[in-house]
Amino acid sequence: MTAVPSASLHGAAQVLRPPEPGLPYLRHDRAAELSLAGGDVALADGRIAGFEADPGAAVQVDATGCAVLPGFVDCHTHLPFAGWRAEEYERKVTGVPYAEIARLGGGIAASARALAEASDEEVLRQAEALAAEMLVHGTTALEGKTGYGLSRDGEARAVRLGRALAGRIPQPMTMTGLFAHAVPPGTTADAWLEEAEALARECDVDALDIFVESVAFTNEHLARMGAVARETGRPLRAHVEQFAAHRSVPVALEWGARSVDHLSCLHPDDIAPLAASECAAVLLPGAELLGGEHTPPARALADAGAIGVLATDLNPGTSPVASMPVIVGLAVRRYGWSVREALLAATLNAAWVLGRSDELGSLEPGKRADVLLLDGPAEHVPYRFGHNPVAAVFSGGALVHVREDQAWRVRAA
Ligand code: NIG
Ligand code: FE
Repeated sequence: MTAVPSASLHGAAQVLRPPEPGLPYLRHDRAAELSLAGGDVALADGRIAGFEADPGAAVQVDATGCAVLPGFVDCHTHLPFAGWRAEEYERKVTGVPYAEIARLGGGIAASARALAEASDEEVLRQAEALAAEMLVHGTTALEGKTGYGLSRDGEARAVRLGRALAGRIPQPMTMTGLFAHAVPPGTTADAWLEEAEALARECDVDALDIFVESVAFTNEHLARMGAVARETGRPLRAHVEQFAAHRSVPVALEWGARSVDHLSCLHPDDIAPLAASECAAVLLPGAELLGGEHTPPARALADAGAIGVLATDLNPGTSPVASMPVIVGLAVRRYGWSVREALLAATLNAAWVLGRSDELGSLEPGKRADVLLLDGPAEHVPYRFGHNPVAAVFSGGALVHVREDQAWRVRAA
């Protein structure tokens, strides 16, 4: 294996750093403690080496006027999937509700049919292209899920495809088993949950997930998936309170969930217990905007000290969004979050959800050198909404992307 050349980013206007080393996550009431002081960053052997310029490094980067950030960690996507559902989006915005679309054979079932019809290579090609698009927008680590298989064989194939994808992209990638995503046509939620439990025991996945909603599974099913997660030693995650309040959060907390995701309809009484717990609140403003969902009580969660997290929820139904800068922009505007709060949620705390914050999510000596150079200060990420601020990307210390207009900043020996 060829060694990764060392690199030195010098003269940055801002370098995003945690208030102390070794934090597994930072609760949102402490986000203001993140430092954005200017400085230098050195990378060696694929790791963050320190915060002094290295004049001998093989790659020299002029970072003047720029922010240097840890790469974004997108901890909630539905990769791999096949095709898109643009016609459904049009029906949705012109007034047909998600549940109605699902009942008419659209929604998750439509993506399941598309996945079943696509060859492995077709699925991987689409997912690989999306991972490349994500990289250019600063996502240096990501999560994928099953959930469009909708049969024993289909879900097992989704796990294999996810693992194959991980082997083809530069980003570290974890796979979550969302075996209980939708009730396959011709069966019942109760019957399918038994299959989902069996898949959860059999399949090689890093975490388990379940979709609790009137069109999907119940709190009782959530508790059963929690029991399997505990039994098999995998973190439990759950799609909850997306379209309506089902009071799933107390159940998820009881089962020690690593994260509860969506929370658009979070019950006010559940804010304080969630914020006090060691369970992340994963908020998905892309799905909220494009799905016309409610806005979660994100300001209250942050003030109460929740482990706040942001992700794209990249999927063909509710959120065909691959850009973390767009997600950060939405969160700042819709949630009233500060720039530091949004960046914390997109980096260190997201890495913690994936069980990888010892390696990823912040600029600390010894951590994997997943580093972004922006084309301006960090405040521009939400402010210049829709603009891609990412000028260059290091993945594991390797310079994997430089935007053409920023190439003058980089000098390679
Ligand atoms: O996170 N809510 C459930 N799952 C996805 C949507 C999946 C789809 O519509 O294809 C979500 O929003
Ligand atoms: Fe999702």
